[in-house]
Amino acid sequence: MSTSTPAVTPPLLARLLRLKPIEAITAHSKEQGGDLRRSITLFQLTMIGVGATIGTGIFVILGDAVPKAGPAVVLSFIIAGITAGLTALCYAELASSIPASGSSYSYTYATMGEMVAYIVGCCLVLEYGVAAATTAVGWSQYLNELALDMFGKPIPAAISNPFGVNGGIINLPAVILIFMCCILLIRGASESAKTNAVMVVVKIAVLIMFIAIGVTAFHSSNLHPFMPLGVAGVGAAASNIFFSYIGLDAVSTASEEVENPKRVLPLAILFGLLIVTVLYVLVALIGVGAQPYTEFSGNEAGLAQILRNVTGASWPSVILSMGAIVSIFSVTLVSLYGQTRILFAMARDGMLPKFFAKVHARRGTPVQNTIVLCVLTAIPAALVPLDVLADLVSMGTLVAFTVVSVSVMILRRTRPDMARGFRVPFYPITPILSILFCLYLIIGLPIQTFVLFGVWLTLAIIFYFGYSVRHSALENGRAAGTS
Ligand code: ALA
Repeated sequence: MSTSTPAVTPPLLARLLRLKPIEAITAHSKEQGGDLRRSITLFQLTMIGVGATIGTGIFVILGDAVPKAGPAVVLSFIIAGITAGLTALCYAELASSIPASGSSYSYTYATMGEMVAYIVGCCLVLEYGVAAATTAVGWSQYLNELALDMFGKPIPAAISNPFGVNGGIINLPAVILIFMCCILLIRGASESAKTNAVMVVVKIAVLIMFIAIGVTAFHSSNLHPFMPLGVAGVGAAASNIFFSYIGLDAVSTASEEVENPKRVLPLAILFGLLIVTVLYVLVALIGVGAQPYTEFSGNEAGLAQILRNVTGASWPSVILSMGAIVSIFSVTLVSLYGQTRILFAMARDGMLPKFFAKVHARRGTPVQNTIVLCVLTAIPAALVPLDVLADLVSMGTLVAFTVVSVSVMILRRTRPDMARGFRVPFYPITPILSILFCLYLIIGLPIQTFVLFGVWLTLAIIFYFGYSVRHSALENGRAAGTS
């Protein structure tokens, strides 16, 4: 007997809270057509995590953070690292239970409903898209530094600074970087992952070089007074420094292109965090041991300048600047990659226009999505200064991280028997601590960041009610990807 039930629109609240079934989220496999190719290995994925994380932050952050915390900046790095680590564990559990493009957006859709998921997706646009613009600006600064070191002349200010800053009109190198990344991403995930792995090796090598040269100038007397501005200074510096840890969760955005994601995803996140934290803490310790903390103020090319001070020669700083240029290239590449996959997942769910979810038949990558994203990212990269955007990136990321930790707890209650490739240790202490650490760092951000974040969320919510709520795949009675 055939029954035709007239479509009934559910009440608004029910629409905002509707959950996407986990099975629908993870059902996107190659066999179902039009999906992404599984070609990324554990090594490549770990490199994606490291590549997305070590970038502009460590190369410029000491100049901002050391004046706030003094030599105790080492503790700030540890606090920010613990926050990233606790959240990485929560990410690993969710990534191993719900291996899907979209990262925390997808996890939230399964646990807290459409509206929160959409808001998390918008936070991820700050974490990836705006972060890519920010790092591209940092790349341009280091390129300028290198030009100065090698040729005695900087790039002309009009084409190397953001609009209105030091006579700048357009930051052309930042735009060029984004378009180079665009070409790599269009060529395919595997090619991008290989290019990224090479760049990561280079960035680790220059940081080790910094540690090796810096240690020769290490004086324990530089570590006194250790905490000149007290605990508050350490906390404020940790909020700043958090930017340099952002990116590790990019690993989870690749889950539809990884072989054996349940095993590989959590391992890649944990290995990546270990590499990054050890390097950062060593770099910070050597940095503050190599020169008095009072000499860091206003030091933009932080690490390069320390090397120049301690050796009296320019070649180590030239090598370091080259390494920074490579590092920031890879962090921009991976941030853009992560953003395309989040937009892909959101569009597949009807939250964004459909073309973001189109996969190129021959290349197996979302080409249109990539091009639109790169054009949109190039605009702030060309016009806006780095510091205006960096704290906003941290805010979006910390909010998304908080929601991820809450999601772990919800999923443990709602789906206790679900297969999990990885389980957070010391549950529920770990996710609770993760939430508390994230909130602590959020509180340390400046008021201006809260205002900008509020504006961004307001615009996003207007779009949700104007478009997404009606185009939602769940609204139309189909689980995305199965239609
Ligand atoms: N963690 C990234 C960086 O430091 C965003 O550039």
